[in-house]
Amino acid sequence: MACAKLAQLTHGERVARRFGSRAADYDEHAVLQRQTAARLAAFVDERGGLYGAEQADGLVAEVGCGTGLLSTLLAPRAARYLATDIAPEMLERCRSKLTETLPDMEFSVLNGEGTCFAETPAVIVSNLTAQWFRAPASGLAHLAGQTPRLFFAVPLAGSFPEWEQAFADLGRASGLLSLPEESLLREVLCALPDRAAHFQTDEHVIHYADARAFAESFRRIGADTPRPGYTPRPIRAVLQRFGSGMDASARVLYGCITKESA
Ligand SMILES: C[S@@+](CC[C@H](N)C(=O)[O-])C[C@H]1O[C@@H](n2cnc3c(N)ncnc32)[C@H](O)[C@@H]1O
Repeated sequence: MACAKLAQLTHGERVARRFGSRAADYDEHAVLQRQTAARLAAFVDERGGLYGAEQADGLVAEVGCGTGLLSTLLAPRAARYLATDIAPEMLERCRSKLTETLPDMEFSVLNGEGTCFAETPAVIVSNLTAQWFRAPASGLAHLAGQTPRLFFAVPLAGSFPEWEQAFADLGRASGLLSLPEESLLREVLCALPDRAAHFQTDEHVIHYADARAFAESFRRIGADTPRPGYTPRPIRAVLQRFGSGMDASARVLYGCITKESA
């Protein structure tokens, strides 16, 4: 696509295209996403299961299902499950993986930021997606207002300090997406009226053979939309610094926002 046309795309369209173009390779390379999907499913269990004490026949809606790493774990436990994603190709992968075993599962292409569900979901779940919202804290707050139970995982500012430090030492900033601040997320979500918030922050450390493998890990899953205003420049010094291996540490916030009973 010509540069002028690309520039006209909205943020959501750009993100959807990037993920969509990598849907076929996603599962092979989504190491962090697979880890956090498992951790989020365990976090759901620790907080009383999908439905908690609520009626266990309601709709569970997932925002940003991707190819279904979290859906595979949670949909079999739900009475009804709606998987949604902004990228049609990602959703299609999820559908082809799950419809055979779960023929009643529903799928919908949807921008989850600011969306209003036609039917109030009993539960909303979301794994490593809200960082792609234009405004992650208010986007998650809006989702919390759409359901009595929201479970999410989101990577935090301060993640990948090894990579950021290598750029800082060159007097530059990396092109990685700016991630939400933990303090802001907690402040916004704890201030929601009639809602109780529970959080846990975990660190996930993943080893890469070298710096190129780390950079490629984003490109191969379509998560390489750079932060706005980033101008690519040579990164030879960074590549050399991690020539014999790199541990990349992601800080991930797990959150459960529930409606307080009257
Ligand atoms: C890093 S992937 C995570 C996918 C999946 N949750 C997983 O754990 O593998 C982020 C996903 O969020 C989707 N996404 C990004 N922005 C979105 C938005 N505003 N609404 C819905 N989905 C979105 C992308 O298309 C992509 O599938």
